Amino acid sequence: MARKIISTTVKTKAAAPVSVKSDILAIGVFSDEGKPGKLAGQINKNLKGAVKKLLALGDFKAKCGSTAVIYTDGKIAPARVLLVGLGQRKKLTSDCIRKAASIAANTAVTLKVATITVALNQQLPAKISPETIGQAITEGLYFGSYRYDEFLSASKDNRLDSLKCTIVDDAPEKIKAMSKGVKAGTIIGKAQSYARTIANRPGNIINPPKLAAQARKVAKADPSLTCKIFDEKALIQMNAGGILAVGAGSASPPRMIVLKYTPKGAAAKAKKPIALVGKAVTFDSGGISIKPSAGMEEMKFDKSGGIAVLGAMKAIAALKPAQTIYGIIPSAENMPDGSACRPGDIITTMSGKTVEIKNTDAEGRLILCDAIHYATKQKCEAIVDIATLTGACVVALGKYMAGLMGNDDNLIEQLKAAAKSSGDKVWHLPCTDEYSEDMKSGIADICNIGKTRWGGAITAGAFLKAFVGETKWAHIDMAGMDMFSSKKHGSEGSPGYGVRLLTAFAINYK
Ligand code: BES
Ligand code: ZN
Ligand code: MG
Repeated sequence: MARKIISTTVKTKAAAPVSVKSDILAIGVFSDEGKPGKLAGQINKNLKGAVKKLLALGDFKAKCGSTAVIYTDGKIAPARVLLVGLGQRKKLTSDCIRKAASIAANTAVTLKVATITVALNQQLPAKISPETIGQAITEGLYFGSYRYDEFLSASKDNRLDSLKCTIVDDAPEKIKAMSKGVKAGTIIGKAQSYARTIANRPGNIINPPKLAAQARKVAKADPSLTCKIFDEKALIQMNAGGILAVGAGSASPPRMIVLKYTPKGAAAKAKKPIALVGKAVTFDSGGISIKPSAGMEEMKFDKSGGIAVLGAMKAIAALKPAQTIYGIIPSAENMPDGSACRPGDIITTMSGKTVEIKNTDAEGRLILCDAIHYATKQKCEAIVDIATLTGACVVALGKYMAGLMGNDDNLIEQLKAAAKSSGDKVWHLPCTDEYSEDMKSGIADICNIGKTRWGGAITAGAFLKAFVGETKWAHIDMAGMDMFSSKKHGSEGSPGYGVRLLTAFAINYK
């Protein structure tokens, strides 16, 4: 690899924004206030009316995420002021604050500057807490400054190695109130960037054993995390027929990665564990039911659910919730080969249930059903799985939100709340018994595809539901999230969907 991913740091400082020397000062502007706010007004005065003149031109309307740059010509300490739109004041959400910070950091990296002062936190509505503001800004700064360029020769674009961000406020008590959020945002932002890098690495760099080595490294870095790797031999011993079938055609053997976070304290330890389960197909060619070649390279992202779990476990270990949490990542490469599984094969999964494989491209559910069964055996109270599972989910919901299914209203509500606070959006779809009817096979306990293509995201959910038993369960189909996302986020490739969602869910689980 040619070089390291850009390193971003975020700190806080009690100071007047205009007095802090930096390459860029980012400030927020609402679209419905008619005149510059307090800080923008002060800057306007310092810059002899430049802000008002810019607003009067009418090309910057302060829509959420829009920007305009003013050069300060030495009149204040920052070299540039970046106006970032926050939309309407009364409609402001933490997601818009996160987006504004992301765009500010993205601008800094694009301009190849080393330092940015962030004052997006000033004069925000009181309904959003300082802690939430600090976390949203910090997560946004990590997100927007990220670039996936570890395989680009360094000479190509001269980007800097690091971006130093400083969140400022004149009031020391406000800085103090935000700092808890900044700390959490740093943990989550770094975990998400890590996840994006692993997700972006192609199939020749990340295969199941390499992913397992990454998980081991993550666990080693935190004493509250352990990592167990089940290799092929162990998978045979535990009758993981689903994982073994999907991995059978690949030169890289499959793995099941089991991360376990253990909290401190007897009361926390006594609570039943929960499990996060993520699909990590390091490359999905479709297998014998091979996919068309156009766009097949996108299927390196078919490991994104598993990597969302890996990133979330990294963040969870640092945030230390009072609850045992498993991160279970079944991983295989789905390839056509003389030893690959075939359409028509009947396999026996870890649960003992037999599956008729009618299409080898419906492989995610085959590795997940073994991992979900393993989670039920660990006596988990709730299981949440996440996967780039079906093209049908992308047809249904597009690329803006993931499909959410499950068997427990309370769990669904908790995931919806986590989606709202994290900005990783979900939409609840049904997963009722009618759909399970569709998955029946005449010659095995269940078939891996539905009788028709209709409702394909939900029939996939219905397949998984057959393996959860009485355990509370929810399923997130994130197929539209990591795929088709090129350059939408300042960086090529994966946006690291799910790290923030799963972390928020696990930290607040009740
Ligand atoms: N990894 C794919 C799902 C996918 C498709 C993700 C497009 C992102 C974009 C999955 O393994 C798959 O191939 N699913 C099949 C299922 C079908 C055979 C029932 C699909 O969606 O076509
Ligand atoms: Zn797949
Ligand atoms: Mg497939």
